[in-house]
Amino acid sequence: MSGEGVERLLELLVSRGGGQYGYEPVSQLAHALQAASLAEAAGEGAPLVAAALLHDLGHLVDGSEVARLARGEDDHHELRALRLLKREFGAAVVEPVRLHVQAKRYLCALEPGYLAALSEASRASLAVQGGVMSADEAAAFIRLPQAQAALRLRRYDDQAKDPSARSPEADHFLPHLRRAQAETWTPAATPDSLSAQTGATP
Ligand SMILES: [Fe+2]
Ligand SMILES: [Fe+2]
Repeated sequence: MSGEGVERLLELLVSRGGGQYGYEPVSQLAHALQAASLAEAAGEGAPLVAAALLHDLGHLVDGSEVARLARGEDDHHELRALRLLKREFGAAVVEPVRLHVQAKRYLCALEPGYLAALSEASRASLAVQGGVMSADEAAAFIRLPQAQAALRLRRYDDQAKDPSARSPEADHFLPHLRRAQAETWTPAATPDSLSAQTGATP
């Protein structure tokens, strides 16, 4: 764990987050700040606020999202930043991020009206992300230790696409990141010890 690590993650978000969030009407940074604000307003603890802020960091370490979607490919963005996140945080942050795409697939299967209410861009990416979960996939998903946190993160994610929303500056969330780091990081959460990097189910 490095004390400056969370500051570097925030810098990465701010410096690279100015670009458009896929086909959504907000920037990556605005989307991240809105998601984190919604989590904070809902009374979430620091780990889920941090997860909400950083859930799409994978888009920023790669940047090929639009090109990949245009080619009909999944960019696997929920996995691309896990190595960075696992240096600073434990499962309460890392796992909701890793699972936030699966959470969408789960809600599409289980919640009437959820799929229809998704943004057009989110419905388009669903197809390349595996589509609606089967009953077996949904049953396996909901048994995962961080499944409920991932579902809550998904709600904030879905709502965080409002071009007129006002959010705090990124620095507002630095204390949340530090607290999340202090609360969740353990020596067991080193980069090679979680199966998350490969996407394998723990
Ligand atoms: Fe995402
Ligand atoms: Fe997102």
